[in-house]
Amino acid sequence: MTQQESLIRALPKVELHLHIEGTLEPEMMFDLARRNGIGLIYGTVEELRAAYDFRNLQSFLDLYYAGAGVLITGQDFYDLTWAYLKRCEADNVVHTEIFFDPQTHTGRGILFETVLSGIRRALKDGKEELGISSRLILSFLRHLSEEEGFKTLEMARPFLDRIDGVGLDSSEVGHPPSNFERLFAECKALGLPRVAHAGEEGPPGYVWEALNLLDVCRIDHGVRALEDGKLVDRLAGTRMPLTVCPYSNVRLKLFERLAEHNLRELLARGLCATLNSDDPAYFGGYLQENYLGCARELALSGEEIVKLVKNGFEASWLDEAEKTRWIGLCDIIAGNYITSDAGGVK
Ligand code: ADE
Ligand code: ZN
Repeated sequence: MTQQESLIRALPKVELHLHIEGTLEPEMMFDLARRNGIGLIYGTVEELRAAYDFRNLQSFLDLYYAGAGVLITGQDFYDLTWAYLKRCEADNVVHTEIFFDPQTHTGRGILFETVLSGIRRALKDGKEELGISSRLILSFLRHLSEEEGFKTLEMARPFLDRIDGVGLDSSEVGHPPSNFERLFAECKALGLPRVAHAGEEGPPGYVWEALNLLDVCRIDHGVRALEDGKLVDRLAGTRMPLTVCPYSNVRLKLFERLAEHNLRELLARGLCATLNSDDPAYFGGYLQENYLGCARELALSGEEIVKLVKNGFEASWLDEAEKTRWIGLCDIIAGNYITSDAGGVK
């Protein structure tokens, strides 16, 4: 194991951009299909995995929404979430903020409460049995209308004490944040923190809209922000976090190779970039693999690795005392690995 790898494994980490439906591994998809008497168009796990060869975001989303069709009962949502949390434990992920897409399920006749209670029960067990803290973010599907979003918010209303914030995801181009201004204003009035996918496939203008019209506290992805110098200044000046997902970006063809990803430049421009896995069952790597892959392919220094990890804590919705405690621990661990002169790994 290289020293860089040891440093990544030793650091406690945060994940801030993770779709729980995107952690549905092919093996579990087959198990749940069998359990629920659902037919799949793929005969084997290998055939299914072979289909994970995406041209763009939409070609991924088509498979991702179809795959989620095997999730029926509260226990299915529990099992899915629990499997992800066990993965967090193995990767030394100590805090995670998870998206769920209720409309993907309520549109198939699954009750909002079934989805929510299955996920929530696993998150509670994750805290009690694994010591992993979490938040849960209800994400609206932007390929559906704002009116559909309002209906979903109505379904969520009795359970708002179990929802920590709202997000906006799905097909980006042609579905700008401005389409959801009234919905997000209502969420703000309800005291819900807001995030939005923007600047993944969509232009920098969508990031501006997310900031100015939806009043978000994080941008999910945001890698296209570098195309607009004024936007970079705004993001850097306000320490607006970007939840960057390098494996996802490569698999969805935003970058041809990991070695060409702009993560280092985002950091160099003073942005609060964080590292995340997005939909790891589909993109070939959970959080730790994203760190290890980027460290290797982008030749990240020890300081850059620690910066990414500390940015994650800073950008999280943990309370200030917890953030301070975790960041302090990161500094102690970093001190054991990083040489003070060039920021390299000892
Ligand atoms: N839903 C799940 N993953 C997504 C992504 N990368 N972009 C937009 N919507 C998503
Ligand atoms: Zn995402």
